[in-house]
Amino acid sequence: MISNRLKSIAKYTNGFDILLDVGSDHGLLPIYAIENHFVKDAIASDINETPLIKAKENFSKHNLDIKTIIFDGIPESNSDVIVIAGMGSELIIKILDKTLNNAINLKRLILCPNTDYYLLRSYLNNKFIIVDEEVIYDKNHFYEVLILEKGNSNYTDKELYFGPILLKNKSELFIKKYKKILDSYKSIVDGITDKFKQDEIRNEIKMIEEVIYA
Ligand SMILES: C[S@@+](CC[C@H](N)C(=O)[O-])C[C@H]1O[C@@H](n2cnc3c(N)ncnc32)[C@H](O)[C@@H]1O
Repeated sequence: MISNRLKSIAKYTNGFDILLDVGSDHGLLPIYAIENHFVKDAIASDINETPLIKAKENFSKHNLDIKTIIFDGIPESNSDVIVIAGMGSELIIKILDKTLNNAINLKRLILCPNTDYYLLRSYLNNKFIIVDEEVIYDKNHFYEVLILEKGNSNYTDKELYFGPILLKNKSELFIKKYKKILDSYKSIVDGITDKFKQDEIRNEIKMIEEVIYA
């Protein structure tokens, strides 16, 4: 069964031709994108062979002829939309750094890391424009999906932290996410012994309150 997180990510592939799903694992995202006619064709890649064996089984169950590639990062292909999801931001940055130049036909990049959105947005600043963003809630966890197209951006620190589009829209899920973060910061801040760390958290609390209660 495909998760709500992957369904939400997949809809941003709509209207493109060939999807490349990097770190595809079970292959559920390309199956969903093709069966819903978001894309015409798809490729599933993964650094490991074992997940791709499972993906191939899933493709044949759905009568889909989706190509698989074993590769560390982004393999060379003619895909115009690439998804990298379900990994940490540090790994996504490593992948982009080493292999983004293989994406010769890239028109849209869709990233959905598990954490460290500030780190990822900071890396992408000046390289990509964030054309859309969404907070996704799935299995008790908040995710953010970033929809990127090539271009020059110059986001402020606050935009890199919250996401420029998320900050503008302040959706219900965005507010819920930051209320949860506030609760957890407030429950630990007084007990932090490292003064520097404590001040950092206090500043973050102030910044979040200014945004969500504005
Ligand atoms: C947790 S799964 C995420 C699966 C799917 N993308 C999702 O969001 O549900 C991470 C997958 O990334 C693959 N992976 C890890 N490092 C990779 C790399 N450098 N290049 C390609 N795939 C990688 C793993 O083998 C694993 O199948």
